[in-house]
Amino acid sequence: MTPAFDTVIRGGTVVTSGGAFRSDVGIRGETIAAVGLDLGTAGHEISAADRLIMPGGVDTHAHIQQLSASGKLNADTWESATTAAAIGGTTTVIAFAAQHIGMNLSKVVEDYSALARAGSLIDYTFHLILADPTPETLAEDVPALMKQGYASIKIFTTYERMKVDDEHVLDVLLAARANRALVCVHAENHGVIKWMTKRLVARGHHAMKFHALSHPRTAEIDGIERMVRLSALLDQPVMIFHVSTAEGAAVIRRARGEGIKIFGETCPQYLFLTDDDFDRPGAEAAKWVCSPPIRTPADQDALWRALALGDLQTISSDHAPYRFDESGKLASGPNARFDQVPSGMPGIELRMPLLFDAMVSRRRLGAAKFVELTASVPARLYGLHPRKGAIEPGADADIVIWDPDRETVISDAMMHDNTGFTPFVGRTLRGWPSTVLIRGNVVVDDGALKAAVGSGKFLPRTAGLSADPMGTQVGDHTTMSRMGIPDFLEAMLPAGKRL
Ligand code: URP
Ligand code: ZN
Ligand code: ZN
Repeated sequence: MTPAFDTVIRGGTVVTSGGAFRSDVGIRGETIAAVGLDLGTAGHEISAADRLIMPGGVDTHAHIQQLSASGKLNADTWESATTAAAIGGTTTVIAFAAQHIGMNLSKVVEDYSALARAGSLIDYTFHLILADPTPETLAEDVPALMKQGYASIKIFTTYERMKVDDEHVLDVLLAARANRALVCVHAENHGVIKWMTKRLVARGHHAMKFHALSHPRTAEIDGIERMVRLSALLDQPVMIFHVSTAEGAAVIRRARGEGIKIFGETCPQYLFLTDDDFDRPGAEAAKWVCSPPIRTPADQDALWRALALGDLQTISSDHAPYRFDESGKLASGPNARFDQVPSGMPGIELRMPLLFDAMVSRRRLGAAKFVELTASVPARLYGLHPRKGAIEPGADADIVIWDPDRETVISDAMMHDNTGFTPFVGRTLRGWPSTVLIRGNVVVDDGALKAAVGSGKFLPRTAGLSADPMGTQVGDHTTMSRMGIPDFLEAMLPAGKRL
């Protein structure tokens, strides 16, 4: 007799963003076919006794085999980054196709797609980085790419070679609105960072700890404030990437309270590391250089509160790997100044285990919130739901079976990405992914990799509700109701609406 399911995961506790319950999971082909008890026969049985069954992690911010702002290629290949991701319980990633100045965006996407297609072990898509939003890019490439299923754009307001000024930010927001794309922003005030850096360097303050001082909190607060106001002007939803400060989170909270559609992300480095990590001898501290910088215990508490309250909705890795050698962190030599060190740290492998340890094992916010922040809400925000981030019939069978009791001491040597170190070295984490499935296939079995290189699939998507404007506030209400609506804004009003 043909078994009822290809695979049944039996005897575990399923955790979704709604809560935890004893259940089996039946899989047919690549999808979840049933969630319940006493499921029928299966071709392949997986025991999950004493285990937690959770959706695979959805990491919506990772730099993979990417030409970065500093002009350097990240340390990873798609193969190494997604091997690390799978072993750490992440089954979907949104990486970046990075247009630099002078590049044709469609060609950029083609090139990055070829790399991912050949190398990825997990399912993937891209945010489109726009560093050169020319009229042609916005009028031709962006609409064409949105039709092909790229539903989000990323811009930077800092980094010399990537930053987009206010005028061009507005161009990007308007193009995103016309094409229903979510805009993600690295929001820091470039002038403040440049001004601080110049003065620190001129006074001989070259040590890595000055990286933190060179990106004062004000730079982030102002960067976010400004994006809030530009977003409000055009009623175009914006996601603020990697919020690091208490005040940055508060800006987002206030904006949301005003009815402005702003989303916020933070990352494990801002929840688990502090600027004390810069007090290491010599160049070693370069491993902890990322932007915005790691901050203080008070910021950590504020970020956890913001996650609890829903002011911030996702936790991604911002995986940005550079080796601790002349190819990466030490490209300017062992005595490099803080501002000569490429910014970024690896995190794609440990994002899920670090958060499982904090949220599930140590009970900070709990298991359902862990699923919400690492899988289900990221999937919804970026148009990947219902395929990703859910354990329900019809969803892709992307599942992590967690051993909640396994203790792991983190070492550099155990990491699978190509960085050669982890900033979380020495920590003991409770809870680890024992089995990982992607679309019904076991890709990690008892910690051992089983996936074939190139088995990950591209995920075309539309942006969904998160990118829909509020429909209530376009432009400057009071002035426009007196003076009339300029035609370039009128086109943006919802059908039948007048100011
Ligand atoms: O320091 C970081 N985060 N580097 C990666 C690029 C970015 O800023 O997101
Ligand atoms: Zn960034
Ligand atoms: Zn980033």
